[in-house]
Amino acid sequence: MASSPPFRLPLAVVLLLAIICVLLASPSCHADDLTATMTNEHEKEHQLMMMMMDRFHRWMATHNRSYASADEKLRRFEVYRSNMEFIEATNRNGSLTFKLGETPFTDLTHEEFLATYTGGVRLPPERRGMQDDSDEEDAVITTSAGYVAGAGAGRRTAAVPESVDWRKEGAVTPAKHQGQCAACWAFAAVAAIESLHKIKGGDLISLSEQELVDCNDTGNGTCSKGYSDDAFLWVSKNKGIASDLIYPYVGHKESCKKQLLGVHNATVRGVVTLPENREDLIMAAVARQPVAVVFDAGDPLFQNYRGNGVYKGGTGCSTNVNHALTIVGYGTNHPDTGENYWIAKNSYGNLWGDNGFVYLAKDTADRTGVCGLAIWPTFPTIR
Ligand SMILES: *[C@@H]1O[C@H](CO)[C@@H](O)[C@H](O)[C@H]1NC(C)=O
Ligand SMILES: *[C@@H]1O[C@H](CO)[C@@H](O)[C@H](O)[C@H]1NC(C)=O
Ligand SMILES: *[C@@H]1O[C@H](CO)[C@@H](O)[C@H](O)[C@H]1NC(C)=O
Ligand SMILES: *[C@@H]1O[C@H](CO)[C@@H](O)[C@H](O)[C@H]1NC(C)=O
Ligand SMILES: *[C@@H]1O[C@H](CO)[C@@H](O)[C@H](O)[C@H]1NC(C)=O
Repeated sequence: MASSPPFRLPLAVVLLLAIICVLLASPSCHADDLTATMTNEHEKEHQLMMMMMDRFHRWMATHNRSYASADEKLRRFEVYRSNMEFIEATNRNGSLTFKLGETPFTDLTHEEFLATYTGGVRLPPERRGMQDDSDEEDAVITTSAGYVAGAGAGRRTAAVPESVDWRKEGAVTPAKHQGQCAACWAFAAVAAIESLHKIKGGDLISLSEQELVDCNDTGNGTCSKGYSDDAFLWVSKNKGIASDLIYPYVGHKESCKKQLLGVHNATVRGVVTLPENREDLIMAAVARQPVAVVFDAGDPLFQNYRGNGVYKGGTGCSTNVNHALTIVGYGTNHPDTGENYWIAKNSYGNLWGDNGFVYLAKDTADRTGVCGLAIWPTFPTIR
């Protein structure tokens, strides 16, 4: 007790000197320590880089990716690293209700993603302008025999269930991957036909997107654009569509294989196109069967969407639609966010989104729906 006061002063002096030293930032102060710190920083950066490289290699293995040259690999690593930084910063922000993560597109810049994986649809002017306040009876109904306006197909019924998930009924095939072919319109249409076929008592059969790409794409030699409602009509006129097994997907446009057009593993009678901006009508329709919709996939958040919550788009999402999806269900009170939501099937494989599916905000203030999903909903009929 008596011996402690004499030690106090020297200790205080030493601390004071140290503080002055730091404040003055004199280079002679702790020069060795500073060098050590800088080396540590450098070392840390190097370690982070090595960790990122490890993750990149794991990502390459998961997605079976390889590159033609060391240069290309380095370039792709830089893009991957920049995407991962965006993904982690966005997740840390916490203002999103969903999660970003690694997808098949983590080595692509956003421009490359847009060029390769969107652009399969563009809304032609004549598709707009249907009455906003019309009821489902005013839906445009087309059959191979021609237009049948207002026939009341799929009339809105009084009791629409609070939630529907056609996946749980075994009526939805696993998410497929369109590859580097802008055939989202064919994938969205085929998913709707597959489900309807099953719901109406058939087997769940994976049907052929390739048949539609080869025989009903607007492009000349390359996958370019198509329309899900045209695809339904095409199947209706052809009196059916082949299975994926018989007419498999190759991911680019080839000449239409006429000898397979007579193989009919499922059929469609007509098409219903709902009035725009009516999520209530989409809901009533989805209660009966999955519905193909158009969508703006143009926000960077969509490229990196990995589920866990309800997607609302970002500032880069508008009604300039460039993609198609199939709505296979809906619900209220999402476990992650408490919101109303749609369940949509995408065509980016099962390593994107939630096993290839995306939850989209439903009944928002936006009449066109999130990213334009309510602009142009269409579904096939069987009889
Ligand atoms: C992985 O890619 C190689 C060539 O890029 C291909 O031959 C192989 O079939 C792919 N494997 C899988 C499991 O996708
Ligand atoms: C988090 O996101 C919000 C909304 O996009 C944005 O306004 C904010 O600046 C972000 N914060 C950070 C730290 O990035
Ligand atoms: C696709 O099929 C529909 C229905 O038969 C047709 O109206 C449309 O012109 C076709 N488009 C192309 C590019 O073949
Ligand atoms: C399609 O491409 C071929 C060869 O590139 C060309 O000869 C043909 O005229 C094109 N057809 C149309 C309709 O553009
Ligand atoms: C599709 O139809 C063909 C011809 O009728 C048949 O051989 C085949 O088993 C059917 N189913 C599938 C899944 O391909």
